[in-house]
Amino acid sequence: MLRVGFVGSGFVAKFHMRAFASIRNAVVSAVYSPHRREDLFALASELGLPQPNYYSDLREMLSKEHLDALWILAPNFARVDVTKIVVEEVLQGRATVKAVAYEKPLARNLYEAKQIVELVKKAGLLHGYLENQVFMPSVVRGKEIAWRRGAAIAGRPYLARAAEEHGGPHSPWFWDPKLSGGGVLLDMGCHSIEAGRYLLTKLGEKDLKPVEVYAEVYTLKWSRGDYVEKLKKFAGVDYSKAPAEDYARTIVRYETSDGQIVVSESSNAWCFVGPGLRLTFELFGPEYYMQINTLQPELFIFFSREVKGPAGEDLVEKQAAEQGLMPAIPDEAITYGYVAEDKHMVEAFSKEMLPRENLEDALLVMELLMAAYKSAELRKPAKLPDPSLDEYKPLPHRAALVTK
Ligand SMILES: NC(=O)c1ccc[n+]([C@@H]2O[C@H](COP(=O)([O-])OP(=O)(O)OC[C@H]3O[C@@H](n4cnc5c(N)ncnc54)[C@H](O)[C@@H]3O)[C@@H](O)[C@H]2O)c1
Repeated sequence: MLRVGFVGSGFVAKFHMRAFASIRNAVVSAVYSPHRREDLFALASELGLPQPNYYSDLREMLSKEHLDALWILAPNFARVDVTKIVVEEVLQGRATVKAVAYEKPLARNLYEAKQIVELVKKAGLLHGYLENQVFMPSVVRGKEIAWRRGAAIAGRPYLARAAEEHGGPHSPWFWDPKLSGGGVLLDMGCHSIEAGRYLLTKLGEKDLKPVEVYAEVYTLKWSRGDYVEKLKKFAGVDYSKAPAEDYARTIVRYETSDGQIVVSESSNAWCFVGPGLRLTFELFGPEYYMQINTLQPELFIFFSREVKGPAGEDLVEKQAAEQGLMPAIPDEAITYGYVAEDKHMVEAFSKEMLPRENLEDALLVMELLMAAYKSAELRKPAKLPDPSLDEYKPLPHRAALVTK
């Protein structure tokens, strides 16, 4: 039985708690978080899971609990500090942890991401990157069919499109680029870029070399008058002065091991107002095509204007309405890939193996994100490799540091 500790008890921790309800050989036995979020503990009870012990001090949790692995679910700005504590406690022999799994994005920039990876390796820890979209059953199965049937007969796919779009994050810190590192490009571009790379990559291999990134970013909605005021109230940030982008479009050009060019295209928005979170994926090959749209599920439910209930997220994540014909996803932890992702991480860590998605992938994603920000800032393609990205900080992050 793998004994897991959560670092962070917010929104994403609830998805992972749901996932652990489907995993037999692991238990979430402790949670560290500066603030105890009761809804996470209530969810554990609702799911019939044992109540994890709560700690407001990370060192205390590490020394008192016999933990095998940590799921790092803390906000972007806390990642380096959390890693320093974990690694110090492991190296001093005060923690039993042997593996760490990090939520996306690994950090705010490549500089921080490299620090984290260096520390994790210094402590000899196994590591996983919690990029749920490359574990989504539809994405995994779609890739498998496209490659086994399409690519095997007609040739490898050459274009992947991935998008993640919703109306904007639920917690204030996401909106403050000083804390988050950037806007939607960092927050959701990390998903779409990695999903595109996954779909274009040969089954069971990592055979793509990124050679160029081109991106454009804009603040389309949240720098407009009324929305500026809304954000000031909600997140204490002033998007008329120091906005983060709410729209990003990124193109990554890769070279395959046999010298072909393949391209991934990502589109991300915090300015999409639809029924809720929308994830779309497409894969083009010479004689085939694959598509996924999570807002086209098998289940829709209609509510007339007479049904005037409170706002909620009971139909789909980031739900923006409660009336009309609404898509509903029966189990989002399955659909979005959390269950398969956590199962894979648990299995790999239990066998003392590196998961298929790990911090090497997280680092590459961060490098691509920094190249995308640099390209958008300079308004020209960014060639890779580019050693200057090691020190590069996205423009919204730098601007927020100046205005604060
Ligand atoms: N895979 C996904 O689709 C997905 C979805 C949501 C969030 N995330 C990622 O997960 C991370 C957390 O996001 P969230 O939505 O849960 O945020 P949230 O704001 O809902 O919750 C953040 C949690 O972290 C805790 N926290 C704050 N400061 C901390 C610190 N210094 N050390 C440890 N914990 C701290 C808070 O108390 C809270 O429990 C982010 O990096 C985010 O990008 C991923």
